[in-house]
Amino acid sequence: MTDKLYHECHDLIRQGRAVLQELQEWGFESVTVTAFEPTEPAAASAGKKTATAVSAPETLAELEAGLQGCQLCPLCQERKNIVFGQGNPQADLVLVGEAPGREEDERGYPFVGEAGRLLEKILFAMNLQREDVYICNVIKCRPPHNRDPEAGEIATCEQFLQRQLEIIKPRLVITLGRFAAHTLLQTAEPISRLRGHWKEYRGIAVMPTFHPAYLLRNPAGKREVWQDMKQVMQRLQG
Ligand code: URA
Repeated sequence: MTDKLYHECHDLIRQGRAVLQELQEWGFESVTVTAFEPTEPAAASAGKKTATAVSAPETLAELEAGLQGCQLCPLCQERKNIVFGQGNPQADLVLVGEAPGREEDERGYPFVGEAGRLLEKILFAMNLQREDVYICNVIKCRPPHNRDPEAGEIATCEQFLQRQLEIIKPRLVITLGRFAAHTLLQTAEPISRLRGHWKEYRGIAVMPTFHPAYLLRNPAGKREVWQDMKQVMQRLQG
């Protein structure tokens, strides 16, 4: 896909999303999408089926299946695996990271590298295991050389995170790092100011905290993350 075509597609997606958002604000709960059928001469279309209703995926498995082979953005060119997410589909707690790194891309699961091992330690300290929670990322494919995700990539991919959260309906979400917090909370406030304060995403309580990869570089931040996790544990038990 050329850059120009990519940006045109991105604009169309953004416009489509704005229309849907407006419909939602008006109180519409669902929209039936009808497949586009080019007009054909009557003879050519005789005997063909017309419009097909396409409904939104109702389960994580359906959503993941629909993502296979995704080519919505250029990250598809270098990825080895789409890293959809992993864990309990009925979890009370969802953790949202940024994007897969090298090991995640190779194995197809989120947070299985060094940052993931630290995340597991944090969960362990909260008396939780990976299987108790659901873990996913804003971006489902690895950005080359682990660069930051670009705005267009986030805009294209965030719909899948949104649907994941709609399907799981967790009580709480922990956003790990600035990209997850900025994407879900639609803010540009620095993570150092966001962390530790309860926020809300579509009726779900959100606790922004530092990313485990940041903690690997700045271990002093662990104290603050632990303060944040204590708030999460309290609320989970409440
Ligand atoms: N960092 C992330 O944000 N997500 C992963 O899955 C791995 C590392």
